[in-house]
Amino acid sequence: MHHDQHDMRPILKHPLNVRVFHYILLMSFLPLAATGLLLLFKPLIEEGMQLTYNIHIVAGVVMTLDAVAFTVMAFDRVVLFVARVFSLSERDLKWFMVLGGYPQKFLLGKKVPVPPMNKYNSGQKLFGACVLIGGTALILSGLVLWLIPHAAPRDVVWLLGMVHLASGLLLTAFLPVHLVLAVYRFDDFKAMMIHGNVPYHDAAEYTPLWVEQEIAPVATSGEELAQK
Ligand code: HEM
Repeated sequence: MHHDQHDMRPILKHPLNVRVFHYILLMSFLPLAATGLLLLFKPLIEEGMQLTYNIHIVAGVVMTLDAVAFTVMAFDRVVLFVARVFSLSERDLKWFMVLGGYPQKFLLGKKVPVPPMNKYNSGQKLFGACVLIGGTALILSGLVLWLIPHAAPRDVVWLLGMVHLASGLLLTAFLPVHLVLAVYRFDDFKAMMIHGNVPYHDAAEYTPLWVEQEIAPVATSGEELAQK
């Protein structure tokens, strides 16, 4: 029998295809966010702005190819992620009411009760929804603005520009929060950035419903725990 607290058995949380997708996403999105802000505020001289635009387009193409390739090659994982992100309950409301207990922990050093979460907590689900919807809007509007800006009516192009700007700013604003929490939750960080696994005790503490509903039923002692 294992005691949760010291149970180091690995659970595969982020399989290799997800990790590669996420790496290419971050390598394309970080330059996109930086060059997007430069294109918005135009602080550089002409050559600098042209280079900024070129980097923005190349990184945008890389992000688009990453998203399309992952959707085609790992369609089951995309469906699963959509299902997880949009499965809402009263627990999500309660989670947002205490913001996952993070402000209390960081600012007051206090531990408050947090409703049990599934594989992703409510904040991650909100970020996931923004990435799914905002990312799709960003890619589609970006393609029109880049490739056929003169083929579409002026008003439509203006609207797409606004959609592009709003979704880009939204995702860029989320990014610092995502980064800080990703590093703070170090077991998850190693899982996504290195080997894919989290120790059982970490999953049981932060994602108890995931463990109860999806891990425990398929777990056999001694073997690597199955994942979804
Ligand atoms: C250096 C940059 C980044 C780091 C270190 C990082 C780290 C992580 C980690 C550790 C997770 C797993 C969280 C868990 O297991 O619970 C994760 C998940 C995720 N990442 Fe990133 N990430 C980065 C950039 C990005 C970017 C640029 C995007 C999209 C624009 C993104 C989108 C996501 C999404 C949608 C998830 C799943 C939901 C979530 O956990 O929030 N990440 N990331």
